[in-house]
Amino acid sequence: MYFSVCLCLVICILYLWLRYKLSYWERRGAPSLPVNFFSSELKWLVMKQSRFQYFKDIYDQLAPHKYGGYSVMPLKMMVRDPEIIKFVLTKEFESFSSREKLFFTKSDPLTHFIFNLEGNEWKDTRARLTPGFSSGKLKYMFDLIAECADEMDKSLHINEDRQLVDVCKVLRLYVMNVIFTCTYGLKVNSMKNGCDIFLKMAGLIRGDNEINRKLANFSFIFPSAIRHYIRPSTFGEYSRDFFKGIIMDSIKYREENDIKRNDFLQIFMTLMKAEDEFKWTIDKTLAHGILYIMAGFSTTTSAVSFLLYEMAKHPDMQKKVHKELDEIMEEFDGTLNYECVSNTNYLNKVISETMRKYSVISSFSRRCTSTCTLPDGFVVEKGTAVVVSVSGLHHDPAYYPDPLKFDPERFNEENKNARHPYCFLPFGAGPRYCIGERFSMLMIKAATFTILKKFSVSVLPEHEIEFDFMPNKLTTEVPSIKLQFTHRQRTTDIQ
Ligand code: HEM
Repeated sequence: MYFSVCLCLVICILYLWLRYKLSYWERRGAPSLPVNFFSSELKWLVMKQSRFQYFKDIYDQLAPHKYGGYSVMPLKMMVRDPEIIKFVLTKEFESFSSREKLFFTKSDPLTHFIFNLEGNEWKDTRARLTPGFSSGKLKYMFDLIAECADEMDKSLHINEDRQLVDVCKVLRLYVMNVIFTCTYGLKVNSMKNGCDIFLKMAGLIRGDNEINRKLANFSFIFPSAIRHYIRPSTFGEYSRDFFKGIIMDSIKYREENDIKRNDFLQIFMTLMKAEDEFKWTIDKTLAHGILYIMAGFSTTTSAVSFLLYEMAKHPDMQKKVHKELDEIMEEFDGTLNYECVSNTNYLNKVISETMRKYSVISSFSRRCTSTCTLPDGFVVEKGTAVVVSVSGLHHDPAYYPDPLKFDPERFNEENKNARHPYCFLPFGAGPRYCIGERFSMLMIKAATFTILKKFSVSVLPEHEIEFDFMPNKLTTEVPSIKLQFTHRQRTTDIQ
C-alpha cells in the first residue's frame, strides 16, 4: 500500500514536471511546433527521413514566423528570417560562437577538431588552420587536384558513345584521391583499384556497423552533458586505427627523408614544431586529418554528381558550360590550371544553383553560450541550440520562386543583389563558415572541367532520380546517378 502511494506520487510528480518542461516555448511566448518527450528529431533519428526533408519540413511548418521552437529536450529553435540568421551568425557571434557537438566525447582526443571546439580554443585553431586554405596555398595545391582529375579522366575508358557511367561512383574515387593527396600526401590510386580499402574505411568513419551508427545517432536526443557518457563510440574503431596509422607513417617518412610538400599534413607538421604557447599536438593532427575526410568527402562528391545530373537534364545549359570551358581551355592551351578554374562565369552560376537546389549540408547550428536578446526582444536562453535550415531557406518560394526548377540565372548579378545574402547559405556564414569552401570549389571545378571538356552527358528516363534523398546520412546523397557519356567536338572547333 505504502509502495503504491509512493509510486503514484512519483508518477504524478514526473508527469507534472514533464508537462512543465514540454510547455517551455509556450511559457516563453515563442511560436513552436507541438513537442513531445522524444522531440521531433525521432523521425531523423530512426532514419526514415533524409535530413534534407526533415529540416525543410520544420522550416515550412514554422512559417510564417521568423523563428520558433521545435524541441525542448534538448532545447532547440529554428531561425527562419535572414536578418535574424545574420544577427545570430555574425552580429551576435560572441553569444553564438559554439555549435551543437555532433561527434564529441570528452575522453576521445580525436574528436577535438575545430568543428567541435569552443571559445579561445576554436579561435586559436581556426587562426592556425586558415592559412592552409589561402589562395596562395590552394594555388599550389591545385596541381595535385589537377593530377587526380587527370587520373579520373584516364580511368573513364569510354569506348562507345552513350556509355552508361555511375557518376557518384567515379566521383567518390576522385574526391577520395584528392583529399588523401592533399591531406596526407598519399596517392591512394583509388581510380586504379576501384572500390579499395581507403573508400571503405572512409565510409566506416562514423561507425563500423549499422547498429553502432544508429545508437550513436540516437544519443543526439539527450542533452549534451548526458550524451558524453552514453555515446557508444564516435568513430568506427577499424577506420580510426587505419587513418591514425597512415598519418603516423607519413609523418615518420617525411621526417626521416626530409620531405616537404604543399599539403595539409605539411601545415600540421609545421604547427607541431612551432614554439608558441598554443600546443598543436599529434592528436590534433590526427583529429584534423580525419575531419577533412569527413567534411569534404561526401559533400563534394554529391555536389559534382548533382551538377552533372542537372547538366544531363538541361542540354541547353550544358551547351553554355561547354562553350565557356572550351573558350577558357583554348586561352590556356588546353592545360587545366588554377587560372582556368578562376575564370569561369556561367559555371559559377550552375554551381550555385546546384548548391541551392540540393543543399548538400541541409542544416547547421549554433549553441547560445550567453543569454542573448533577439532584435524583436525575445530572449534566447543560454544552452539553446539555434538551427538554420539550409534546405528550407533554399526551397522557400518567397526567395526562389518555383524552387524545384533548376535555373542558374537565379544567380546572375541582378537577381543575387535583389535577394538577402543570408537566403543562400550552402557553406554557412559568419566567422564559423566552412573553412574548406574554396578547396571544395576547386575540386568541383576541376572535375567538371575534366568531364565536360570531353563529353556530353545525358540521362535516360529510367535513370532519372527522384527528389528523395538517402536517410541515414549527414549529407544530401543518392546511392547512384547513371548518366550516358558521349564524346563531343569542342565548340571552338565548330565554326
Ligand atoms: C561541397 C562541399 C562542402 C559543403 C557544402 C560544406 C558545408 C559546410 C557547412 C554548411 C558548414 C557549417 C558552417 C557554419 O556553421 O556556418 C561547414 C563547416 C566546416 N567545413 Fe565544410 N563543406 C564542404 C566541404 C568542406 C571541405 C572540403 C572541408 C575541408 C577539407 C571542409 C571543412 C569544414 C570545417 C573544418 C568546418 C568547421 C569550421 C569551423 O567550425 O570553424 N568542408 N561546411
